[in-house]
Amino acid sequence: MEIIHISAECYPAAKVGGLADVVGALPKYQNKIGHIAKVVVPAYDTKFIRESEFEVAYDAWSNYGNNHFQYRILKEKSNKLGFDLYLVHIQGLTDRPNVYGYADDTERFVAFQIATLDWIAQWEHRPDVIHCHDHHTGLVPFMVTNCLKYQSISKIPTVLTIHNAQYQGQFGWDKLYYLPAFDLWKGGLLGWKDSINPLASAIKCAWRVTTVSPSYLEEMMGNARGLESLLRQERWKSVGILNGIDSEVWNPETDPMLGKGYNLKTVESGKAANKKALCDVFQLDSSKPLFTFIGRLVDEKGADLLPDIFYSALYQHGDNINILILGSGDSWVEGRLNQIKDYYSRNYNAYIGYNEQVSHEIYAGADFLLMPSRVEPCGLNQLYALRYGTVPIVRRVGGLKDTVIDIGDGGFGICHDQTSVWDVTHAINRAVELYNDKKAFKAVRKTMMKIDHSWDKAATNYIELYQILKQA
Ligand code: ADP
Ligand code: GLC
Repeated sequence: MEIIHISAECYPAAKVGGLADVVGALPKYQNKIGHIAKVVVPAYDTKFIRESEFEVAYDAWSNYGNNHFQYRILKEKSNKLGFDLYLVHIQGLTDRPNVYGYADDTERFVAFQIATLDWIAQWEHRPDVIHCHDHHTGLVPFMVTNCLKYQSISKIPTVLTIHNAQYQGQFGWDKLYYLPAFDLWKGGLLGWKDSINPLASAIKCAWRVTTVSPSYLEEMMGNARGLESLLRQERWKSVGILNGIDSEVWNPETDPMLGKGYNLKTVESGKAANKKALCDVFQLDSSKPLFTFIGRLVDEKGADLLPDIFYSALYQHGDNINILILGSGDSWVEGRLNQIKDYYSRNYNAYIGYNEQVSHEIYAGADFLLMPSRVEPCGLNQLYALRYGTVPIVRRVGGLKDTVIDIGDGGFGICHDQTSVWDVTHAINRAVELYNDKKAFKAVRKTMMKIDHSWDKAATNYIELYQILKQA
């Protein structure tokens, strides 16, 4: 089958979070099992894009209504990614250093989707499936089926994967003219609660909807930022498929970002060496358990509570634990996390910012990884932690619930029920106990590292889903 993934992010071209990891790995595994999966993302002004080599695959103008813009499709030449990567360059719109966060994001992503469909519509053959990811590509299912411009591709099945329903990309009806013409009576397929809502539109129009874990699908029926009733209505065409990880990129034995590689047999010495190096850089004490958090500092991750959780844990455990944070997001959380350094300089540190290399070093060097998320559609951090022998401490929610089993239930992680200072501090206390029981701690590490979370299985689940659509 030929599958076209359309997304705002794809590792290593452009990454903000887990969406990039998924779109940079799933197609690779689909290709490995004999399919042709390609990826289309906007051409941002990132280091990867500046430094990689591309050829021009297509160059054209998009014209519709009173709108017109020039776009160029660039194809990455290295063949190293495991899939063909295409970038859509629209001067003045896509070519910015950041993926999101601009006042004209709506215009940027609408133009990206239109350019991508214009390009696909003039191919001599038709792909079997168009797979879009999150709201940035959420207008694709509507446009493919309904815009007169895309009549030639209107029968191609579309699949939407919801990575995160917290973000829906709403914009006002006054911007309807951004879209190519369609029969106006179909306009209701774009809207939800007084505005154009790309995520809602995709849920209505895609042939199938997937979420990135089974538990998240169930949770969304009761909590999806206003989309609950729509999701319940479209439940019949929805399925939760748990994300995998790219076990070639995330392999502690071969990871080029680590000072010392390790495997199941050498995990104790390997992790000790990585921990020592990490603690030296961040002025921590490698003889004490190291707790970490990596991620976006936003409420859905429970980041607003982190400062109080750390004050509480550091107060209780004194110099007997270390904490290291890597993240960026809400500025008041960043500020509070930085402030803790003034009080606990010997056993606390925070790297406020985004750094892929440091994230790998932390997964390898840490003992525990905290994920007190309020909402977690899947979560990849805990899967990386498991692979690197770092015990995840997670709230029982979404994908965390589907992937981490508590040590009390014969598992390999520490789970808590609420995103609250009390619950997380209690979980940290349990972690310290585990750390002090060297035999049990070693056994848990080995159990975790043996779990296979690679994309092999989930890549097949998606193919089976596409096959149903092809036969429809
Ligand atoms: P989300 O996509 O909701 O942010 P995920 O757990 O799915 O959460 O994925 C987060 C990804 O982003 C992981 O690869 C994680 O290592 C990475 N990441 C998050 N914040 C940072 C950061 N500050 N520096 C480096 N990597 C980060
Ligand atoms: C989203 C979710 C996260 C998930 C990721 C990849 O950003 O917040 O839980 O792991 O997408 O699917």
